[in-house]
Amino acid sequence: MFLSVCFSAQTRGFMDMINWQRLLAQRTVGMRASEIRDAFQLAERPDIISFAGGFPAPESFPVTELRQVMQRLMESEADVALQYGPTEGIYELRCLIAERMSREGILTKPEHVIITNGSQQALDLLFKILINPGEPVVYELPAYIGGINAAVNYEAKPVGVRQDEQGLDVGALEQYLAKQREQGAPLPKVLYIVPNFHNPTGVTLSLSRRERLVALARDYDFTIIEDNPYGDLRLEGTSLPHLKTFDTDGRVFYLGSFSKICIPGVRLGWLVADPVIIQKVCIAKQGSDLCTNSLGQKLVCEFAKSGLLDQHIGTLKSIYKRKRDLALAALTEYLPKEVRWTQPQGGFFIWITLPAHLDAKQLLPGLVAKEKTAYVPGGAFFVDGSGKNTIRLAFSQVSEDDMAEGIKRLGRYLDRMLHSVRPTRAEAFRSA
Ligand SMILES: Cc1ncc(COP(=O)(O)O)c(C=O)c1O
Repeated sequence: MFLSVCFSAQTRGFMDMINWQRLLAQRTVGMRASEIRDAFQLAERPDIISFAGGFPAPESFPVTELRQVMQRLMESEADVALQYGPTEGIYELRCLIAERMSREGILTKPEHVIITNGSQQALDLLFKILINPGEPVVYELPAYIGGINAAVNYEAKPVGVRQDEQGLDVGALEQYLAKQREQGAPLPKVLYIVPNFHNPTGVTLSLSRRERLVALARDYDFTIIEDNPYGDLRLEGTSLPHLKTFDTDGRVFYLGSFSKICIPGVRLGWLVADPVIIQKVCIAKQGSDLCTNSLGQKLVCEFAKSGLLDQHIGTLKSIYKRKRDLALAALTEYLPKEVRWTQPQGGFFIWITLPAHLDAKQLLPGLVAKEKTAYVPGGAFFVDGSGKNTIRLAFSQVSEDDMAEGIKRLGRYLDRMLHSVRPTRAEAFRSA
C-alpha cells in the first residue's frame, strides 16, 4: 500500500507528496490497530448497553480514599512524588510488591521487580528483549490481543495452541513442540499465557496443567510470560499456585498490574524476573520512558501501605461477584439453547460460543442498531483466523440494573438470527 500525505495547496503553494513507504521502518508493515478498539467506542455511547470494554466498574473507583492519600502525599512527600524516579521503580513500592509476591509463593526480592507503565509496557519490553524477526511465539487460541500485538510489533510469528475449559491444552502444545523438534523446525522461545480468569474466555488453567507446562518449558527450553492482571479477583473457589512457583531456573516472567485491583488510570504494572532479565528490561525501558510515573507509584504505595488496597480488593470482589452472578443467571434465562458459555470463577469475562454458521462480527452491527447492545466479536482474539462464531462478554463495566436487560436483548437478537441465517451442510455438521 502506498501511503501519502497531501498538504493543503493554500498552505504550501503546491501539492507535496511524502512517500511514507520509503520512510517508515519495515516492521510497521505488520503492525495492526487492535480490532476491538471499534467495539470499545460503542462503550462510550450512553444509549448502548455495552459488554465490549474489559474495563473496571467505574463505580468501584476509591475516589475518596485516593483523594485523602494524595492530600497527605502533597503535604509530606511531594519532593519524591513529583520528581523523576529510578527506572526500576520507587524502591519502597518494589519492596511492597516483593512482599506480596513472596506471600503468594514466589520468593521475591526487590531486585527481582521492575515497575512499568501498566503490565502492557512490561509485555512490550519483554518482547523487545526476547524476539528476533520471524521467531515463533506461542499463544492460546484465543489470546489477549494486547499480548499478541506486543510481539507482532517486533515481527514475531504468532503460533496458536487450542484452549479448553481447563485452560491451555498442554497436551496439544507438547504435540506441536515434538513435531517442530522432529522436523528440525524452529522452536518457540516464548509462550504467552493468562492463567487466571483469562481474557477473553474467563477460564483458569488447571493445577496439573500448570506443573506440566513449566516442565515442558524446561524440556524444550522456552520462556513463559505469565500475565496475571485478574488473579486477585477470584470470586469463588481456591487460588491455584502461580506458574512461577514451579519455576526452578528463572524462565517464567510474572506480570502483575494495579489496573484491575486499584485503578487503570494510574498505569502501573510490574514484572518479576531474575536480575539478568530485570537489567535488560531496565535498559530497554530507559529508551522508552526513562522511568514510570513517580506520582502514581507513591499514590499506590501509600494506598497499599495503609491497608486500603486489600480492603479495596475485598470490595471489588463483592461488586464483581454480584455482576457475574446476574450475568450468568440472565444468560441461562435468555440465551437460546444452541448457545454455550463459560462459567468464570473470577475476573471480568464470559465467553460465548454460537453455532458454527453464525459470524459474531457480522451480527454485531445489527445488534447495535436494533437492540442497542454491544459485545466484542471473538475472532479478533485468534491468531489463526478461527473463532468467528465466538463472543467476549465483559460483565465488569455494565451496571447491575442493565445486566439482565442487555443479555435479554442479546438473547432475543440471537434467537432471531438463529432462525433467519441458515447453516451450510458443512457448518451444520460441525455444530452437531
Ligand atoms: C490479560 C491482560 N494483560 C495485560 C493487560 C494490560 O493491563 P495494564 O492496564 O496493566 O497495562 C490487560 C488489560 O486489559 C489484560 O487484560
